[in-house]
Amino acid sequence: MSNIIILGAQWGDEGKGKVVDRFAECFDIVARYQGGHNAGHTVYIGERKFILKHIPSGILRPGKVAVIGNGMVVEPLALVEEVDGLTRAGIDVRARLAISNRAHVILPYHRVVERLSEARPGRVAIGTTSRGIGPAYEDKVARRGIRMADFVEPDSLRSLWESAVADKTVLAKAFGIGDEVAPADSLERCLAVAECLRPMVRDTAQLLCHAARDGKRIILEGAQGTMLDIDHGTYPFVTSSSATAGGASTGTGLPPTRIQGVIGVAKAYITRVGGGPFPSEADGKGADRIRNEGKEFGSVTGRPRRCGWFDVPLLRYTAMVNGFDSLVITKLDVLDQFDEVPVCVGYRSGGVDIDTMPASLDGLERIEPVWENLPGWRSHTHGLDRYDDLPARARDYLRFLEERTGVEIGCISTGPERDQTILRSGSRLVALLE
Ligand code: IMP
Repeated sequence: MSNIIILGAQWGDEGKGKVVDRFAECFDIVARYQGGHNAGHTVYIGERKFILKHIPSGILRPGKVAVIGNGMVVEPLALVEEVDGLTRAGIDVRARLAISNRAHVILPYHRVVERLSEARPGRVAIGTTSRGIGPAYEDKVARRGIRMADFVEPDSLRSLWESAVADKTVLAKAFGIGDEVAPADSLERCLAVAECLRPMVRDTAQLLCHAARDGKRIILEGAQGTMLDIDHGTYPFVTSSSATAGGASTGTGLPPTRIQGVIGVAKAYITRVGGGPFPSEADGKGADRIRNEGKEFGSVTGRPRRCGWFDVPLLRYTAMVNGFDSLVITKLDVLDQFDEVPVCVGYRSGGVDIDTMPASLDGLERIEPVWENLPGWRSHTHGLDRYDDLPARARDYLRFLEERTGVEIGCISTGPERDQTILRSGSRLVALLE
């Protein structure tokens, strides 16, 4: 009876939404443990395309329970829109979605505060999604945030709102930000959406722990990816929460002793959105080709993603901090028509090999990637669902990644649909799904 964590092994956008949706078949509950509506999961089911921002993709499977964990930050208006959109598509969200009463709320003034840090002259912008994520987590850590439990109580919301808005107004004035911190009707709108959300708000840590005790199976889903983790990522070019496996317990309340496996999801190449170091970034033409073949544009912001080649040292690092049992490699088909596929196999700095991930920004910027070129397979893998049907060179590529990263590849995704997936029998991953 395994409960597992599924998370991104790179800089996010690895295709976790599809993977979680595919594996959710074998589980009862999918719980997300960090981030907010900065994450966008795109899931295709037949002709239908779903973009999920807060709600774990488990909701798309009839009968499964989806949990918004306490480690997440919730933008209530956006969440209600998401719930309504799914309801219109015929999905019974309200009966199957549980929102943690301990999750923090993103309010209109968080976006204003984000502008203080992102747009201030002389400040190196992180290139955030501008959703107010960082400021909401700042308020959480500073112990002045508003949690769902209080958000859905009108009297508590009114008094917490007043004091928060007074604080932010002082701040905005001091920094010369002209925007209104809390537009006229925003409290009233929040009170109205709180009413809609209240029936779904509950103690989700208890829900998860009781479910685990009763033999139900749980997927804990991360957003964003390891290299955007607040502690282990390329700080300060990171998001404001714990995207790594360690965050799964604090972000849900399900203890580590109840979790049996950790699955990393990595693209067959790599992308990053926003600023910050990117050792295996491809040059102009290579990046354009990957971006076009892989349709690498943000599902929440529409921003073109920066594109590059698979980075082995980065994967070894993310495997170390997460303890991956197995990897899912996604978007293999994007590389189908390349003559050669470069792979970053090592890092050097000042001409010397390095075997750790530098912590300093300067150290990260100074990484010199060591490349190996592998032959491309020049043949279609799109939609294949059997390992043996992959072209020999594609299998060689996967074997190379397995050997160099030291982690098994238990699953390969060859397209956006659920059945465009190869599961490798005998793998640790398949054992965890059983
Ligand atoms: P924030 O999470 O909006 O504060 O943005 C911080 C950094 O994380 C920026 O570089 C964003 O582009 C990046 N980021 C946030 N969410 C995602 C995601 O879902 N996919 C990829 N990058 C993300």
